[in-house]
Amino acid sequence: MSGHLEGKSIAVTGGGNGIGRGIALACAAEGANVVVADYGVSMDGQDPSSEVADAVVAEIRAAGGNAVAVAGDVSKMEVGQQIVAAAVDTWGRIDGVACVAGIVRERMLFNMSEEEFDHVVAVHLKGHFTVYKAAAAVMRKQEGGGSLLGFTSGAFVASTAQANYSAAKGGIVSLTRSAAFALRRYGVSANCIAPAAMTRMSENVPFEMEAGAPEDIAPLAVYLLSDGARDITAQIYTCTGRRIAVWNQPAELRHLWAQQDGVFTVDEIADRLPATIGDEEMPMFADLERRMKEMAEKKAAEEAAAS
Ligand SMILES: NC(=O)c1ccc[n+]([C@@H]2O[C@H](COP(=O)([O-])OP(=O)(O)OC[C@H]3O[C@@H](n4cnc5c(N)ncnc54)[C@H](O)[C@@H]3O)[C@@H](O)[C@H]2O)c1
Repeated sequence: MSGHLEGKSIAVTGGGNGIGRGIALACAAEGANVVVADYGVSMDGQDPSSEVADAVVAEIRAAGGNAVAVAGDVSKMEVGQQIVAAAVDTWGRIDGVACVAGIVRERMLFNMSEEEFDHVVAVHLKGHFTVYKAAAAVMRKQEGGGSLLGFTSGAFVASTAQANYSAAKGGIVSLTRSAAFALRRYGVSANCIAPAAMTRMSENVPFEMEAGAPEDIAPLAVYLLSDGARDITAQIYTCTGRRIAVWNQPAELRHLWAQQDGVFTVDEIADRLPATIGDEEMPMFADLERRMKEMAEKKAAEEAAAS
């Protein structure tokens, strides 16, 4: 064991499967006591079971590590509380939380039901709030502070068929940045990973993904939860296993002052805006075109092979 997290207590939501499982196992291998929190649901959030959380706890214990399971729904306030209490009651501290739990309910915006929207936002965005809130309340008082680690997605920029997921992932970025902003004075950092890995969640993505194994995300998560990263906060990192990238910080780019009476009229905006501040390049549309072309080529090749 190299011990990057020796003696720390870390909770991992969604720790029963995919990326979260990889992080829970890696945290334990690095010396942490681990709360494996997982509702054990299907990809669309149905049929809960405590089996997956229990299985990862058994794996950690079999390897000589310490772990406890919490099998509740992270979108509930009391479950966020239980997850943090499991660490504090068992090991006396909560040093880090990684919020990896997630579901998908894919549908075009014009067909999406209120329930599909609310469910995805509840699991992802509120599921970060419930755990961040309970953890921050302990971390701000304990010596050494702590680390909050959220899981967003490149899809926070935009998604054609997952407006609910994209909105939740954008919310997670703002929630995490707000946590970083408010908690720095207490020694608490807050960062996000936008991962890409081949899991059940990504296996139906209809375009080529730059992605490796779910375990490949764990080294960056462990680093961000470790003391070595204590000065890193309010950052968003893409991680594909082989590539890590840092995102820019949102900021105004150019501005324009009103001339007439100090406030704009519609006419003045129409006259001056296009030639002065203009609008920004939209790389997401070029990406969409590239993906549509890739999908059309793949379909044509499959049809040619079948005929
Ligand atoms: N796989 C990717 O390429 C990819 C890309 C971008 C973002 N992400 C994000 O990474 C995270 C992990 O994704 P994954 O691919 O490992 O998914 P996964 O489906 O393999 O695992 C998700 C886990 O979350 C658990 N879960 C779901 N709802 C829950 C709830 N209400 N309470 C507690 N646990 C719950 C599930 O039981 C499951 O074990 C998600 O937030 C996902 O949005 C993944």
